[in-house]
Amino acid sequence: MNETIYRPGLEGIVAGQTSISSIADGLRYRGYPIEQLAQHSSFEEVAYLVLHGELPTQGQLDQFRNQIGQAMELPEEITATLRSIPPGVPMMDVMRTGASLLGHWDEQAQDISTEATLAKAVRLVARLPLVMCYRHRLRQGQQVVPPRKDQSLAYNILWMLRDQEPQPDHVRALDVTLILYVEHEFNASTFTARVVASTLSDLHSAVTAAIGALKGPLHGGANERVLDYLLKLRSPEEAAQWVGQALQRKERIMGFGHRVYRTGDPRAAILAPYCEQLAAQTGNQPMEAVAARIEQEVRQQKNIPPNVDYPAGRLYYYLGLAVDLYTPLFVISRTVGWSAHVLEQQAANRLIRPRARYVGAQPRDYVPLEQRRE
Ligand SMILES: CC(C)(COP(=O)(O)OP(=O)(O)OC[C@H]1O[C@@H](n2cnc3c(N)ncnc32)[C@H](O)[C@@H]1OP(=O)(O)O)[C@@H](O)C(=O)NCCC(=O)NCCS
Repeated sequence: MNETIYRPGLEGIVAGQTSISSIADGLRYRGYPIEQLAQHSSFEEVAYLVLHGELPTQGQLDQFRNQIGQAMELPEEITATLRSIPPGVPMMDVMRTGASLLGHWDEQAQDISTEATLAKAVRLVARLPLVMCYRHRLRQGQQVVPPRKDQSLAYNILWMLRDQEPQPDHVRALDVTLILYVEHEFNASTFTARVVASTLSDLHSAVTAAIGALKGPLHGGANERVLDYLLKLRSPEEAAQWVGQALQRKERIMGFGHRVYRTGDPRAAILAPYCEQLAAQTGNQPMEAVAARIEQEVRQQKNIPPNVDYPAGRLYYYLGLAVDLYTPLFVISRTVGWSAHVLEQQAANRLIRPRARYVGAQPRDYVPLEQRRE
């Protein structure tokens, strides 16, 4: 075996081919720069692009929106399960269970044809928001709020959580975060989804596994962890002091750094103005000032720029969303990217089965139990 190609964390290793997104020269979905998509399109339009490979025409987009709208419903049994899950269970665990449960009520669950996988992807994208919003309402002892099928996914997330007509600028800000979270090449959760798909397993299995991978704080979980420190630091001075101490203790500051983008995550730059605007509107400028100082210090002391989770976490907080919904929102959006990768893997499948460098005990013979020393 060629030992020279071993790298911990597979850093820099090309583990497959993709035509879905590229991150070498800024982030592009299917060739389109993320900046243009975030400025001009909607989550639904981007979801269509990522799943189908081309931007939709008006007619295709209307039909796609309609498909999502029609699929926005949950079997009563799933709502009952969401009600019965113990109160303290983390929301990401509920999302993971939800993705798996949705498969039980999907007639095409075992069908791995392209057509069925595409149809299931649309249903998952339409229904995972209901899992999140219904569970959130139920755990608070509130009635669930049914979706408005003629409205966008971003609108419905705010509507179903709050039971109030959301402001258009809030819907837009949430929509932009969803666009930015849709897809990101061979990140840990997407790679997980592809590994599952490569065994010829089904989409619900791949998405369920991917949610488990996204949960970790080194991946999607970071957007929630950002609030751990932002909520406790009261002034820019306190923030500067905290950064110095945390870095001295060799702690990782959540929301900073990236395995691939060493000079800056383009998604963070896109969200920054939305954050500023929402902070001003909702009286959260003190948190923005603390965040700005932290960014300045981390850049100065470690030369590490923020990633997308740094502004996304703040933006969700300014929208008044419960902190443990931030990574589930990432799930909802990334389900599009995972599904596109499952489709791509299925289209030219080869079982993903790498090798390991063995560093364990030397070959030895079995010792009978009675001969082993305590
Ligand atoms: C994303 C992440 C795992 C990528 O890490 P990686 O590719 O393994 O980075 P490395 O381990 O090569 O880091 C290089 C150096 O930067 C430091 N570093 C990287 N991210 C850091 C962070 N967020 N805070 C403090 N230091 C950080 C490392 O400690 C290391 O320092 P050293 O050379 O003094 O030991 C890492 O940046 C991280 O843990 N970030 C916080 C979690 C996060 O926001 N995740 C969301 C990613 S979108």
